[in-house]
Amino acid sequence: MTEPTPQTATAGGPLVARTPEELRRALSGPGHVALVPTMGALHGGHRSLMRLARERADTVVVSVFVNPLQFGPDEDFDRYPRDLAADTALCAEEGVDVVFAPSVATMYPAPQMVTVDAGPMGERLEGASRPGHFTGVLTVVAKLLNLVRPDTAVFGEKDAQQIALVRRMVADLDVPVEIVGAPILRDPDGLASSSRNVYLSDAERRSALALSRALRAGREAAAGGPDAVRAAAHAVLDGAAGAAPPVVLDYLALVDAATFTEAAPGHRGDAVLAVAARVGSTRLIDNVSIPL
Ligand code: PAF
Repeated sequence: MTEPTPQTATAGGPLVARTPEELRRALSGPGHVALVPTMGALHGGHRSLMRLARERADTVVVSVFVNPLQFGPDEDFDRYPRDLAADTALCAEEGVDVVFAPSVATMYPAPQMVTVDAGPMGERLEGASRPGHFTGVLTVVAKLLNLVRPDTAVFGEKDAQQIALVRRMVADLDVPVEIVGAPILRDPDGLASSSRNVYLSDAERRSALALSRALRAGREAAAGGPDAVRAAAHAVLDGAAGAAPPVVLDYLALVDAATFTEAAPGHRGDAVLAVAARVGSTRLIDNVSIPL
């Protein structure tokens, strides 16, 4: 794994706030605040988000919260990896100032009756496969932005539709925060860093490499236009469907980067080639941006 080298730790490590009151006390000073929202199980990809935050801010806050609202009933909420001690240690290495790690009861003391509707863009691709997912994501992101009140919030571009929706929410609801995207961090073999990679056996990991190979093939076919991009990527994934263990495709889509609607044959401008697939019991997503 190409992990960035750790930065100098702050003396004593970050302050860990478990409640909004503790968070407010920790953030009482002046200066630019940057938030890195996470669900924990922190890895090299998160380190690169923290570094972008550090470049911009006097105070860096990392939230660690496995948000039940964004998981479907048959998804991996219960088995999602949780290790706050390891997460805090990684944050200390990156010079993070505050870790905000609320409990579910603290974040959702009563049944959540008012949520942020992600609109039509939230029903495509990931939203079609995971109904309600983006309502859960945008609701918790709105809560975190209101609790931390950061000047900047940093999100990973691996979740391309998520960051596009967060940008839309911030624009549409006039939330005063700058949203910064961090490029996808990949292992040397091409696999995109993800907290869910820990679920993969060695054989599953080998099969999973088809996702990044398909995206590369798609990008290399960009000169031929949208249909050529899709065909090149599908050719790789079709082959991987017969691998052992197989790559079970959920979707492959070439979409407009701002709206996530399918890129038409004459599409010009930024597009995103996005893929989601299951390998064993692990669902993986990846994407690449393709200027057309
Ligand atoms: O990308 C994630 O880890 C989560 O979706 C986020 C943004 C922290 C919201 O729970």
